[in-house]
Amino acid sequence: MRIILLGAPGSGKGTVAEGLRSTYGFPKISTGDLLREAVREKTPLGLVAAAQMGKGDLVDDSTVLALLRERLAKGDCRDGYVLDGYPRNLAQADSLEALGLAGPEIVFDLQVSDGVVLQRLANRRTCPKCEAIYHLVNKPPKKAGICDICGTALVQRADDTPEVIKERLKTYHAKTEPLIARYATRGHFHRIDGDAAAETVIREVRRILDSALDRPAQAGKSR
Ligand code: AP5
Repeated sequence: MRIILLGAPGSGKGTVAEGLRSTYGFPKISTGDLLREAVREKTPLGLVAAAQMGKGDLVDDSTVLALLRERLAKGDCRDGYVLDGYPRNLAQADSLEALGLAGPEIVFDLQVSDGVVLQRLANRRTCPKCEAIYHLVNKPPKKAGICDICGTALVQRADDTPEVIKERLKTYHAKTEPLIARYATRGHFHRIDGDAAAETVIREVRRILDSALDRPAQAGKSR
């Protein structure tokens, strides 16, 4: 099974992907995380990507596809995986289809208003080591500034400044939003109210997945 999470910056894609990983064991594949890792390691690809990410623009399709292929080749994706941040334009959706998949594909579109996005991203903190996501108000770490999971100092993402967030939103509306029309005509497409509380959003996504997987409700369960 392939689960695709569509949504604006800050719509909660990473938060939902983490909720699904903890319930179903599907790995979260975030192209943003893969790119940030390349940037941190200062690989040639990372140096090019950093400039594009810093402007709020998309990194070029071939670079992101290469990273995605490499990640999918790891052995943990055979039963299913959650895509957080891919595809992000029509060409990437074509590439994804060309990769093929044994099993169903389910698409969730997390709909949020731009005002909510600005508030969420200004207060987001992330762990640069394990990629855990926090929010200073909605989901603070137990100890201020420290990741609950691995004890690493939390950081604010370089692209979470008001100027870059505005550009990321523009990029989303121009390049990624058109994907909604493409997927909406297919069988397994679900619009989700992403403005709701994180637990509510995750519960709703799990409810839909349980019914698609034809299994007893997993809502509220995690492992
Ligand atoms: P990426 O890292 O994917 O960033 P994004 O799409 O802008 O999304 P975010 O990670 O900012 O937000 P999210 O939706 O995951 O929200 P989160 O769960 O963290 O990409 C970064 C850059 O990399 C791009 O700009 C681009 O340059 C490049 N890139 C990546 N993929 C690419 C691709 N395929 N092609 C080309 N370039 C690519 O939540 C946000 C905050 O809100 C958190 O603090 C969280 O705790 C809180 N929160 C979440 N849900 C809720 C809720 N329901 N209620 C209250 N608070 C919530």
